[in-house]
Amino acid sequence: MAKKAQATWGGRFSTGTAALMQKFSESVSFDQRLAPFDIAGSKAHSAMLAQVGLITNAEREAIHAGLDEILAQVLAGKFKWSTALEDVHMNIEQALTKRVPAAAKLHTARSRNDQVATDMRLYFKAACTDLIQRLDGAQRAILTVAEANADVLIPGYTHLQRAQPVYLAHHLLAYLEMLQRDAERIAVVADHANWCPLGSGAIAGTTLPIDREFTARTLGFVDGRGRPRVTQNSMDAVSDRDTYLEFAAACATIGVHLSRMAEDLILWSSQEFRFVDLPDAFCTGSSLMPQKKNPDSMELIRGKSARLQGNLHTLLTMVKGLPLTYNRDLQEDKPPVFDSHDQTALCLEVLAGTIAGMTVLRDRCATAVADPAMLATDLADYLVRAGVAFRDAHHAVGAVVRLAEKKRVPLDRLTHDEVSKVHEKFGPDWVDSFDLGKAMRRRTGTGMPGPVQVRRQIARWQKLLG
Ligand code: ARG
Repeated sequence: MAKKAQATWGGRFSTGTAALMQKFSESVSFDQRLAPFDIAGSKAHSAMLAQVGLITNAEREAIHAGLDEILAQVLAGKFKWSTALEDVHMNIEQALTKRVPAAAKLHTARSRNDQVATDMRLYFKAACTDLIQRLDGAQRAILTVAEANADVLIPGYTHLQRAQPVYLAHHLLAYLEMLQRDAERIAVVADHANWCPLGSGAIAGTTLPIDREFTARTLGFVDGRGRPRVTQNSMDAVSDRDTYLEFAAACATIGVHLSRMAEDLILWSSQEFRFVDLPDAFCTGSSLMPQKKNPDSMELIRGKSARLQGNLHTLLTMVKGLPLTYNRDLQEDKPPVFDSHDQTALCLEVLAGTIAGMTVLRDRCATAVADPAMLATDLADYLVRAGVAFRDAHHAVGAVVRLAEKKRVPLDRLTHDEVSKVHEKFGPDWVDSFDLGKAMRRRTGTGMPGPVQVRRQIARWQKLLG
């Protein structure tokens, strides 16, 4: 069932596309969110066309006024999108054509290939700013909990076995480091996006005397000193999707980080740990078991991290076999990118909300961290300070642990008599090694969980986050 030939490219076609093909090939259902960037690009492009004399100033003004009207309609949700017009670019151009005759000149020296590449680079810059703000929001929420519980100690785990005591704040500040690297990664993506492809045309530029630097400057594709940044190879510019990959990879990494935090909180809120109580507002109940309060927000973050990895994989696979330059496959690059942005943004907000609303169960933390076995390494360090080689010290403390297990008493309940038989260098003060406060104060080096270090790190983050 053929329709009337397509208005923008239909010249060489005798019939229009089949209804099925229209449904299959449209992208406007998802790329309409590019409208503000598409309009900004068209305004800059038409300003450049007027600047070099390819259109008149009056035509530029008419185009700008028409585009402003369309943008207002789009933002008000009143714009009528049509799948018959394929994508955001043609929808906007057609709407402009209905308003102003000069619209027929807008696409001079431009292709949808460099147009969509430009739209997406503008989009990436905005998306990166958005994610950096949300990363900052999550960091602030975590820092607030760390500050409010700066004196709380918990067991630190390796292999999910109790390892050594740490301040809860030290554990939480590890999350801040992860999110900080994420923000830096996203900032790099924004910088890589900051090159203007407009003027690359469909593949090989144009014969018309355009001013690429003018367009780049108008759209804010400039370096730190305000100099325009334009892409240097037209074929690369219309087919390169590196920024998409890097953006999706950065989102996937954020997803992995959030998923690990979520897993900690799921464990900590379980009856077995009970270090924290998660806020009701971010938990749900069971339809069957009345007592249940499930950490669904954290489980969904864990689940969505898989989706973020999938989006990256989709993009990698899509691009891998494509000959240069543009191929229509590339239209499929947008849903995974938008999804990665939206889901990462949501996950960051949900994590921030859940952490901000959680209660630290100090009693439970104190009970768990009182286990003297976690200071066995400190006891070995005691022997080292008495001149024993660490390997021998490790061995001796291992024998002490075995003895305590055999006698079914906590490590610090053995007598001096008993331990001095294991190693002569255990003096009467051997048991001081289990003084938790003293033990923590011995951790004075940068990056360690000593109380002074942790306070210093909290202060550092307060300053960093402003
Ligand atoms: N909607 C298209 C996309 O997202 C725009 C570019 C179309 N170019 C083309 N030669 N058909 O990729």
